[in-house]
Amino acid sequence: MPYKTTVWTVDNFEQISEKNTQLIQASLWIKKDEVVAFPTETVYGLGGNALSDQAISRIYEAKGRPSDNPLIVHIAEEGQLKELAAEIPEKARILMENFWPGPLTIIFPKGIKVSSKVTGGLDTVAVRMPDHPVALAFIKACGVPLAAPSANLSGKPSPTSAGHVFDDLSGRIPGIVDGGQTGIGVESTVVDCSVDGAVTILRPGGVTKEQLEEALGSEVGLDPAFTEKEAAPKSPGMKYTHYAPDAPFVLVDGSREFIQSLVDKARAEGRRAGVMTTAENEKFYNADAVIPAGERSRPETVAAALYDTLRTFNEAKVDVIYGEVFPKTGVGYAIMNRLEKSAGGNIVAENK
Ligand code: TXA
Ligand code: MG
Repeated sequence: MPYKTTVWTVDNFEQISEKNTQLIQASLWIKKDEVVAFPTETVYGLGGNALSDQAISRIYEAKGRPSDNPLIVHIAEEGQLKELAAEIPEKARILMENFWPGPLTIIFPKGIKVSSKVTGGLDTVAVRMPDHPVALAFIKACGVPLAAPSANLSGKPSPTSAGHVFDDLSGRIPGIVDGGQTGIGVESTVVDCSVDGAVTILRPGGVTKEQLEEALGSEVGLDPAFTEKEAAPKSPGMKYTHYAPDAPFVLVDGSREFIQSLVDKARAEGRRAGVMTTAENEKFYNADAVIPAGERSRPETVAAALYDTLRTFNEAKVDVIYGEVFPKTGVGYAIMNRLEKSAGGNIVAENK
């Protein structure tokens, strides 16, 4: 550091291959054990050679990330799993067949070639095959699996566009592959298949509990860390501050009238107040910034807009943000998990 950060824009990417000249230029940095941001179907990742300790150190440094928080390794072909996982349990095999490429990260017993730097000292490794033509072509161009956390500064909302990555990491990384907006908007679901018995969700995400249960034909568990307050998370990343906009974010379980009353009170105290709402409710609020994140009737649009909306409040220079809650079903489960983390426990319920 500091770097002059190059942006390699790829268009027409439905037909992209590993021979794309932009991707080849970007891959030269990976071959020098440097890190490059690239799009996936969930959020942008900050990639480095998963088999290079130097590259892994650079990922943690660029993000300012605690090194006990392990990384997900991204592959483009199933054959790459052989050098990463010590074994492939039967349930993992079923999940791979159903959800790869896609927003599902599977925890495997770690193979000997995987450095403990990638896994934060754990004896397991997280792997996924992203469902994005640019990500797949880029991994192939690099010729190695890519370890990649979300490409944001540690603690900030994850990036869903190259512009978000640039805002956070310009000068800290050599380059960004720009493949436009990401589609899903929340990160992959992380599941543990490394122990016998039930598959457990360690982080809710793009693939829902319902979808996993249908594919496996059996019940899927939830890590107690996000159902019981005191439990230690099995996924180390779940314990850190996350997705935080500049202003305090307050998640409000209550009516529109109740949210408006909180806004009015803040403004009466001389504070600028924002409301994070949805298209259906936008017209009901009167505040310093009223920003809809998608449509409540289509939760996938909320997921897609979530992080961009949180970042937009920074430009609105508000002192506090009040946010609506969502039903915890389907992708709503992941949306609420991220909003609860953004709020850092700052949750207000209306006495009904
Ligand atoms: O969609 C995604 O998953 C994005 C894109 C870039 O692929 N990546 C992402 O990475 O969200 P990151 O580093 O922000 O989150 C990785 C999560 C963390 O919660 C981490 O603790 C967990 O996966 N994780 C990684 N390895 C693990 C392991 N061996 N055991 C348990 N949890 C693990
Ligand atoms: Mg992240």
